[in-house]
Amino acid sequence: MTESRYTPEALSVDIDPHLFVVFGGTGDLARSKLLPALYRLLSSRGFSDSVQLLGVASRDITDDEYRSLVGAALAAADLAVDEEWLGHSVHFQSLRHGFEALGERIREVEEAAGLGGNRAFYLAVPPDVFDETVEGLGKVGVVDGPGWSRVVVEKPFGVDSSTGMGLNQLLHRWFAEEQIYRIDHYLAKETVRNLLALRFANPIFESSWTRDRISSVQITVAESGGIGTRARYYDSAGAVRDIIQNHALQIFSLVAMEPPVRASAQYIRDEKVKLLKATAAVTRPDLVRGQYTAGRIEGEDVAGYRDEEGIPPDSTTETYAALVLHVDNWRWKGVPFYLRAGKRLATRVTQVSVVFKEPPVSLFSVVDRCEMHPNVFEIRLQPSEGFALSFEMKVPGEGYVLQTQRLRFDYDEVFGELPDAYETLLADVMTGDQTLFVRADEVEEAWRIVEPALGIEDAPQSYEAGSWGPAGADDLLARRGDHWEIPVI
Ligand code: BG6
Repeated sequence: MTESRYTPEALSVDIDPHLFVVFGGTGDLARSKLLPALYRLLSSRGFSDSVQLLGVASRDITDDEYRSLVGAALAAADLAVDEEWLGHSVHFQSLRHGFEALGERIREVEEAAGLGGNRAFYLAVPPDVFDETVEGLGKVGVVDGPGWSRVVVEKPFGVDSSTGMGLNQLLHRWFAEEQIYRIDHYLAKETVRNLLALRFANPIFESSWTRDRISSVQITVAESGGIGTRARYYDSAGAVRDIIQNHALQIFSLVAMEPPVRASAQYIRDEKVKLLKATAAVTRPDLVRGQYTAGRIEGEDVAGYRDEEGIPPDSTTETYAALVLHVDNWRWKGVPFYLRAGKRLATRVTQVSVVFKEPPVSLFSVVDRCEMHPNVFEIRLQPSEGFALSFEMKVPGEGYVLQTQRLRFDYDEVFGELPDAYETLLADVMTGDQTLFVRADEVEEAWRIVEPALGIEDAPQSYEAGSWGPAGADDLLARRGDHWEIPVI
């Protein structure tokens, strides 16, 4: 149990007093991620009444019932519940009474707590009620001050180019882009954020980060888990919408973008968009779709995708996708970026492997016919966050026998436990830092790139659960003389 630290003094200066409104306040996301992250964040900065939480949902419960629900969610996350905080700072409003009533409640809570009208609206709601929530908020005027208002939205940001644009238009009807915080939780993972430091604080890497030195870049987002209880969502989405369009392309853009003018949200996001614009939409020959069949993972038998509860037996949804992206700019022309993501793969690992070019002349293979391997720089985003650089060395003794060795750095050995992604994101919303959030034009470019991979009805290639994906994904690279690097965890 973590200790609760209630101190009535004000929160640290960077967080303005405000009302934090969570739509979907009783739902899964709120209970499992948001509420614990909010609580940890507030407690680490010393609780105060200057941030008030208003849960909103369609069910009709009292403030006290909501406080019990929040308390249970915190306890489930191993947090010591501070009853005083619950009583002072947590409220609930049902949407059954409409948006007008919500508007009144917002003003009432603010007045009682002496808040000046700063508001953050977190929309942890399913896509089918997204439009009415945004419209409802806009129409009752609670997004127009008196203080700042910010809206936080979770993926999916549409299901294709046109719905992605439609969603942006809807948001822009009521909010300026500077008020919109689109969450991609991968952007808040410490190692994803560290990509910027790694690249731009270490000239040793940056000077090698070009087509002159790099032969390919691989981005793997592998999960050993299946679809859990999300059959309905997943079967309509598939791996391209679920992971490639957002998480994988976000990692790609941070790995491949040009140095920003300054480390601020605007300049970083400008560079990401520029990179995406230079990236061609995927083509069918550069795409492999897969679907898992029954297999064994970590000693357990697991069902095939079509036998999962809630999945139609003839589903053609891909649970795996591998694709090649081509960037048409001076830095990357001719360097393939291989992206792959899948469920029920051999292990859970998210990794970038930067594969360097081999020496122009193979000195040692001529002398002793030994096999050379290219240098690979691995950036492991999860689990066991860290970096590793493989290099070739001579095995002591006669002749030139080469062996690959790895220099390895592990975050946890140096820094211990890393901060929770949601806590980081909430702190950024509260301080108004948009760096780790996705801008409208990034979403639209990302949809353009994956659009040809959507709506394909051909049956995907099968792969056994517990493997590294379908054979076609290996062929995709073999055609270019490459192979997937096996992540070393
Ligand atoms: C979500 C996807 O965005 O990311 C899930 O919808 C996926 O299908 C999850 O499992 C992976 O996140 P993480 O942080 O566990 O790698």
